[in-house]
Amino acid sequence: VTIPVLGIVGAGQLARMTYQAVVGLDVPLHVFADRPDASAATIAKHVTVGSWDDCGALTAFAERCDVVTFDHELVDPAHLRALEDAGHVLRPGPRASLFAQDKLHQRTELARAGLPVPAFAAVSDPDDVRAFAEEHGWPLVLKSRRGGYDGRGVWVVDGPAEAHDVVNSSLEAGVELLVEEHVAIEREIAAALVRRPSGAQRVYPVTETVQRDGICVELIAPADVTPALAAEATALVERIGVAIDAVGLLAVELFVTDGHLIVNELALRPHNSMHWTIEGARTSQFQNHARAVLDWPLGDTAPTAPYAVTVNLLGPADGSDPRDRVADALGVVGVAVHLYDKAPRPGRKVGHVTALGDDRADTHARAWQAAGILTYQEEP
Ligand SMILES: Nc1ncnc2c1ncn2[C@@H]1O[C@H](COP(=O)(O)OP(=O)(O)OP(=O)(O)O)[C@@H](O)[C@H]1O
Ligand SMILES: [Mg+2]
Repeated sequence: VTIPVLGIVGAGQLARMTYQAVVGLDVPLHVFADRPDASAATIAKHVTVGSWDDCGALTAFAERCDVVTFDHELVDPAHLRALEDAGHVLRPGPRASLFAQDKLHQRTELARAGLPVPAFAAVSDPDDVRAFAEEHGWPLVLKSRRGGYDGRGVWVVDGPAEAHDVVNSSLEAGVELLVEEHVAIEREIAAALVRRPSGAQRVYPVTETVQRDGICVELIAPADVTPALAAEATALVERIGVAIDAVGLLAVELFVTDGHLIVNELALRPHNSMHWTIEGARTSQFQNHARAVLDWPLGDTAPTAPYAVTVNLLGPADGSDPRDRVADALGVVGVAVHLYDKAPRPGRKVGHVTALGDDRADTHARAWQAAGILTYQEEP
């Protein structure tokens, strides 16, 4: 059989939904999971259980795959270079991956390339924050360089005492930080494209993301921004894709402030902001990511409906399990339910729902109705 084995390092919901997207192409998935009950490990064709810090285990895994891609950013960049030097095909490659792995590297290199990023500085002790504050004022944002997700690793600090506490406890825990200006965000949007090794690419419609407590709760596609701003966002992601030689899905989280755009962060893998594409685009980000990293022709990224709204399902505060209410949620017209086989700890992302429709307000209402049934979430 000549169908290549697709390896994914990480077996969370992104790997799970990627497999779902390529099952119909008979692509055998091999996941490298940190635990046997991880979201994609329970369904993949081949599973290796190991630590992503273990270069030997990663090498043994890569030897059994034709192409290796990722569902997280946590592999040590030195391990990635070692795998590439050993001849394994990593897509994206180590140089591009570093832009999603290290926020300080990302800010430094994008600023050098003339792309808009917030004012930022590296932090090695509390004095660095004090010096930055003298120039930029309070509040400020402290961020871990690596490994943050769902707002873990992001601290908005109002003054020196608070900053001091965050810096000291981070240094004690061995977490490196950067500091950046607190941007007056009007709204947050994401632009994404999918790109083959040759540079052939397709862009997805620009999407609005709504965060609450640092965690993304809702997506609305297309974003309600002017055509000029949407074009600017698309041009930015295209420029970044070329600059870093991205392969696969590239998503860029953007802040809209004062009518212009600032880059927040990059992801070089399927991204939460594009989950609506499963039903809302002719080819989902998951299938297109797989096609891109396998160097196969990309699918059409055009929308299938005027509006798509996705609500992330967060584990309910009462400890109940949304899976008990799936049948009720499916009663909401035109809503798709996706669950990730994750224990519903309060606040944890355990799934999402997507509604499609012709009317923005009605589509939004149906998505939130289904989310309300599953997790008792209320719309922001
Ligand atoms: N400089 C800033 N100014 C104002 N708000 C910010 C800033 N940086 C981050 N935020 C807010 O915090 C949220 C999370 O930040 P960021 O995306 O850097 O963290 P993360 O934990 O890596 O997120 P993700 O869940 O996307 O992985 C942003 O979506 C934004 O709402
Ligand atoms: Mg983010």
